[in-house]
Amino acid sequence: MCLFIYLHEQANTVKLDRKEFLSLIGVSTGAFALGRCLQGCKAAAQPYPNPPSNVNITLDLSNAAYKSLNTAGGYIYTDGIIVAKTTSPNVWIAVSQYCTHLGTSVVFQTTNNDFYCSEKGSVFAYSGGVVTGPATVPLKQYSVTYSQTINGTILNITG
Ligand code: FES
Repeated sequence: MCLFIYLHEQANTVKLDRKEFLSLIGVSTGAFALGRCLQGCKAAAQPYPNPPSNVNITLDLSNAAYKSLNTAGGYIYTDGIIVAKTTSPNVWIAVSQYCTHLGTSVVFQTTNNDFYCSEKGSVFAYSGGVVTGPATVPLKQYSVTYSQTINGTILNITG
């Protein structure tokens, strides 16, 4: 709007003809659009957000909140981490929850025991490595160990 007023004043005082006026607006609009695009592209290249560190989480799978981790393909989110039960017996995996492209939460897929982001389709291996972009930075992988108790399975997630 300010640009328009400025150009309007310029047109009145300098007597720009219509072609010059439209040409000036076109260049200004193009420069504005290019600037916005470059800002967006720069933002998209930033890994987001930082994955949790110094993690030490214990999950009791007899707890109703974590029961899905007793079944292959089940997964939960906890403290910025996605924990999933793979299709292999007694194998759980954990990686940072947020896609490194723009921060959408990933989901677990049993087809290849990998993680999928619905935002733009990035896929991450069970270890967090990028399989398909646009993400270029891997998800952080966490160590998962388990123990059996009389009540069921206890997971310990560290990293
Ligand atoms: S946030 Fe863009 S692909 Fe995941």
